[in-house]
Amino acid sequence: MLLNDYLSKNTEMLQGCSMIELGSGVGITGMLCSRFCRQILMTDHNEEILRRNIELNVSSENPSCCAALEAEKLEWGNSDQINRILLKYPGGFELILGADIYILITAS
Ligand SMILES: C[S@@+](CC[C@H](N)C(=O)[O-])C[C@H]1O[C@@H](n2cnc3c(N)ncnc32)[C@H](O)[C@@H]1O
Repeated sequence: MLLNDYLSKNTEMLQGCSMIELGSGVGITGMLCSRFCRQILMTDHNEEILRRNIELNVSSENPSCCAALEAEKLEWGNSDQINRILLKYPGGFELILGADIYILITAS
């Protein structure tokens, strides 16, 4: 809620940008951003609900939402999945968002 509130009050930072979201859950943050960004990839290790919610929210009755909204499976640290995403989106992303998640990075 805090991130969505912040983003909705600072939409200029989203205008026209490409964004990847980690741990998207049901996709609320991504869908909010889809009103302002040009491309959004929502990811989660359980991405089926994201695909379903994109289907439910993209419709001719709701043309301002989800114009460039996609979902991919991404379990943090899975290099096969990361490489597949990088191949599909070679331009990368200008913004990385994650709401209510934490990722531990350890040195080995
Ligand atoms: C607390 S929820 C937050 C969901 C959403 N960002 C929100 O704010 O409503 C955490 C999300 O991270 C995802 N998640 C947890 N561990 C993960 C992992 N190792 N790799 C990818 N996603 C993970 C869960 O499936 C869940 O959707």
